[in-house]
Amino acid sequence: MRWSSKLAAIWTAALIVPSGAYELDVNSRDSIIKGATIAADGMMNYYAGHLPGNTPGILPPPYYWWEVGAMFGGLMDYWWYTGNDTWNDIVMQGMLHQIGADGQIMPKNQTTTEGNDDQAFWAIATMTAAERGFPNPPAGKPQWLAVTQTVFNLQATRWDDLHCDGGLRWQIFTWNNGYDYKNTVSNGCFFQLATRLARYTGNNTYVEWANKVWDWTAASGLISDDYRFYDGLDIRSNCTINHNQWSYNAGLYLGGAAAMYNISTGAEQEKWKKRLDGILWMSGVFFHPEQADIMYEAICEPYPRGCNTDQKSFKAYFSRWLALTTQLAPYTAEIIMPKLRTSAKAALRTCVGGTDGITCGLKWYKGDWGAWDGNFGVGEQMAVMEVTQGLLIPGMPAPFTETKGGNSTGDPSAGGAGDNPQLNAIVDLSQPTAGQKAGAAFATLTVLSMTGYMVYYMVT
Ligand SMILES: *[C@@H]1O[C@H](CO)[C@@H](O)[C@H](O)[C@H]1NC(C)=O
Ligand SMILES: *[C@@H]1O[C@H](CO)[C@@H](O)[C@H](O)[C@H]1NC(C)=O
Ligand SMILES: *[C@@H]1O[C@H](CO)[C@@H](O)[C@H](O)[C@H]1NC(C)=O
Ligand SMILES: *[C@@H]1O[C@H](CO)[C@@H](O)[C@H](O)[C@H]1NC(C)=O
Ligand SMILES: *[C@@H]1O[C@H](CO)[C@@H](O)[C@H](O)[C@H]1NC(C)=O
Ligand SMILES: *[C@@H]1O[C@H](CO)[C@@H](O)[C@H](O)[C@H]1NC(C)=O
Repeated sequence: MRWSSKLAAIWTAALIVPSGAYELDVNSRDSIIKGATIAADGMMNYYAGHLPGNTPGILPPPYYWWEVGAMFGGLMDYWWYTGNDTWNDIVMQGMLHQIGADGQIMPKNQTTTEGNDDQAFWAIATMTAAERGFPNPPAGKPQWLAVTQTVFNLQATRWDDLHCDGGLRWQIFTWNNGYDYKNTVSNGCFFQLATRLARYTGNNTYVEWANKVWDWTAASGLISDDYRFYDGLDIRSNCTINHNQWSYNAGLYLGGAAAMYNISTGAEQEKWKKRLDGILWMSGVFFHPEQADIMYEAICEPYPRGCNTDQKSFKAYFSRWLALTTQLAPYTAEIIMPKLRTSAKAALRTCVGGTDGITCGLKWYKGDWGAWDGNFGVGEQMAVMEVTQGLLIPGMPAPFTETKGGNSTGDPSAGGAGDNPQLNAIVDLSQPTAGQKAGAAFATLTVLSMTGYMVYYMVT
C-alpha cells in the first residue's frame, strides 16, 4: 500500500514562514497543545449559545445546525487530547439542549432542514463522548450511548429499498429539497455509526448493518472500484451519480473500515483491510499535488468559486478520522502521521489573519504565496484544531468499549419504528412555505461537477 504515486510531490516548495506565524514543533506535546488551542479559541469566538438570551447548541448564520454538532464532537476530542476541560460545560449544555428529552436529536426548530447527515453528525459526537469517557449527562437525561443507539435505530427505519436498491435518502422529510437524493455522507455517517456501535457494544446487529451499508454504497456506484467516494445519486433520474469527491466522505468510510478491521478476524479482517488500504491509497487525492503532504479540499479550494461554509469544515472530519484510523489499525500510523504532521504545520502557518492576527485561513498549501488567504470562520478554525490535536494520538488510549473503560448507559431498542418522527411528522406538521424550503442547501451539490472532473483527471 502506498499513497497515490501520481500525486506524490512533483516538487516540494520550501514554505516561507510568515512573520508572526505560530511555528509548530511536531515533536513537542506542549507545542501541539498550544497550536490546537489557538485554533480552538478562535473557533469559540463564534459561539455564544451559552450566553443569556441565546440558544445553546446554535451558531449564528451562516452556520447550519449540523456544524455545531460536528464542532462539539471536535471539542470533545480537544478535551480528550489536551486534557483541557475549558469548553466541556458549554459542550454539555449545548448537546443536551439539542438532543432533547426523547434522545432523538430531532429538535422541532430544525425539522424544516434536518437531514440524516445533519442528525448523524450530532450522533457521531455522542458516540465520541461514550468512547472517550466524556463526562456523562446528569441522571435523568438521555445518556450518550442510548442517544447514539436511538439515532441509529431511527435511521435504520428510514432505509429505503424501493429506490436504487437501498440506501438512506439525504433528507428525512418529504418536503425538503434533497428528499430524492441519496447522498454518500448520510450513508457514510450511518455506516460509521454502525461500525463504532459494533465495536463499542459487541452487538452483531451493527456488524450486519455495517456490511449492508457498505455493500449498497459499493453496488450503487457511490464507491468506485478504486475507492473514490462520489457525492450521491438522484433517484428521479435513474440513480445517476454526482461524481464530486469530498474528503469527509472518504474519512467516514475510512474510519468505519478501520473499526471493522479492528473487530474482525480471518477472512473478514482481510476483507476490511483491503478496503481500508484502498481508501487510504485513494485519499492521496486530498493532498495537494504540488505539496503532496498538505491536505486540501481538492474540488473547491483551488477554484475561484471557492468552498462554501459547510465545505470549509470538511478537512476537520477527514483529519479526525485519519487520526482515529491510526488507533484502530495501528499499521496505518506510519503512512498517516507524516501527512498529518506536515498538514498541521502548514495549517498553523495560516493563522496570522484577521484583526486579532491569529485567525486561521483555508488554503494550507498556499504557505509560500502568502500565509492568510482571507478565508475565515468556524470551519477554518475547526479544521486547523483537528489536524493539529490529532498529532497527540500516538500513545493515547484506544476508544473505550462497553467492557473496556466505557460506562455510558445504552438502550439498544430506543428509536424503533414506533418512535420514528419521520413518520409522525409527516402527519403532524403542515407543509412549510417556499421560503423555508429554500433553506435546504441542495445547490452545493451541483455547482462543482466541473471541478469534480479535475479530481478525476488528477488521479487517472
Ligand atoms: C485551557 O484552555 C483555555 C482556553 O484556551 C486557556 O485559557 C487555559 O489556560 C487552558 N488551561 C490550561 C491548564 O492550559
Ligand atoms: C427553538 O427556538 C426557540 C426560540 O428561539 C428557543 O427558545 C429554543 O431554545 C429552541 N430550541 C432548541 C432545541 O434549539
Ligand atoms: C465513567 O467513566 C469516566 C471516564 O473514565 C469516569 O471519569 C467516571 O467517573 C465514570 N463514571 C462512573 C459512574 O463510573
Ligand atoms: C437506467 O440505468 C440502467 C442501469 O445503468 C440502464 O440499463 C438503463 O438503460 C437506464 N435507463 C434510462 C432510461 O436511462
Ligand atoms: C485494535 O485496536 C487496538 C487499540 O488501538 C489495538 O491495540 C489493536 O492492535 C487493534 N487491532 C488490530 C488487529 O490492529
Ligand atoms: C442488538 O441491537 C439490536 C438493534 O439495535 C437490538 O434490537 C438488540 O436488542 C441488541 N441486542 C442486545 C443483546 O443488546
